[in-house]
Amino acid sequence: MGFRILGTGSVVPVKSLSNQDLAGMVDTSDEWIVSRTGISSRRISSGETMTELCVDSSLLALENAGVRADELDLIICATICGDYITPSQASLIQSNIGASCPAFDINAACSGFLYALDTANAYFAAGKANKILVVAYDTLSKFVDWTDRNTCVLFGDGGGAVVLDKGDDLLGIKLTSQGNAEILNIPCYNESPFGSEGVNKQFLHMNGQEVFKFAVNSIVTEMTALLKECEVSKDEVDLVLLHQANIRIINSARQRLGMPEEKFMSNLSRYGNTSAGSIPVLLDELNRTGVLKKGQLIALVAFGGGLTTGACLLRWDKE
Ligand code: ACO
Repeated sequence: MGFRILGTGSVVPVKSLSNQDLAGMVDTSDEWIVSRTGISSRRISSGETMTELCVDSSLLALENAGVRADELDLIICATICGDYITPSQASLIQSNIGASCPAFDINAACSGFLYALDTANAYFAAGKANKILVVAYDTLSKFVDWTDRNTCVLFGDGGGAVVLDKGDDLLGIKLTSQGNAEILNIPCYNESPFGSEGVNKQFLHMNGQEVFKFAVNSIVTEMTALLKECEVSKDEVDLVLLHQANIRIINSARQRLGMPEEKFMSNLSRYGNTSAGSIPVLLDELNRTGVLKKGQLIALVAFGGGLTTGACLLRWDKE
């Protein structure tokens, strides 16, 4: 079924913002942030546009895959933070890397990478593509209220890319959506002047405890269902890459799944929650540091705004 990952790439912004830096901006402390979230620092785009970060990530992924930009049949970018509403982020990536294929964005917040993989899989299955670039990048620093300690300590900017070709490394993939703007939303920048309430609405709003419960329940439910669907036992899974939002979410889900800590990969302490970008950054780090080994069974599970979830099980097939 589906696809094979030929290469990965990721680039995060240069500027690092530590918990100590944040303690100088809002009423918080390193101790509170580390103990409640597991995050120590995050990257914030300052000099770089998201297009530049996406393009650099894509070029690294193409190089790692040994694929030229002009061989691509499709570019999908999962993001909620593109530099423009139109043109799409994917279109800007396409022209900047020298590709000539169709390109479009997907909005599924933190689950965006999984939604993009599922879309790529459908393109392969339909015979519409042989090579696809999937980019997942977010720069939520644009939408975070940096005076709100409840949210600003959680997020960072980052993302990465993968190059896919047709293959049979995908064992299963599963998406869900349950429309809900109550517990997590980022309103539109602009409202029609007719009927506008005139309040500053562009910030991310979140009920942290509700998101926490949704996250843990979703990871356990979706992962369990996926393994059942694929007829794979949890013991057969070598590595689990969860959306990097909060170490307490990761640990709670892991305990409920009854799986050992060493299978759960994390770089959350360095980057915070980078939304759609979190799994591809982690995947790229594991690829480049040699943690991923040919033949390993890897589970990717994400949850986020929508509310959405995505889970997939794949065999790592790269040397
Ligand atoms: N520093 C110090 N104190 C803080 C801070 C802070 N940064 N933030 C909140 N507090 C205070 C609160 O005001 C509250 O004080 P009070 O008891 O006097 O009222 C106290 O700490 C406890 O607050 P809680 O909200 O109960 O803290 P909790 O343990 O639930 O942790 C957190 C909050 C970290 C937000 C947690 O609920 C969480 O991680 N939720 C999930 C968030 C998430 O994953 N969001 C993104 C997913 S989707 C996407 O990525 C777009």
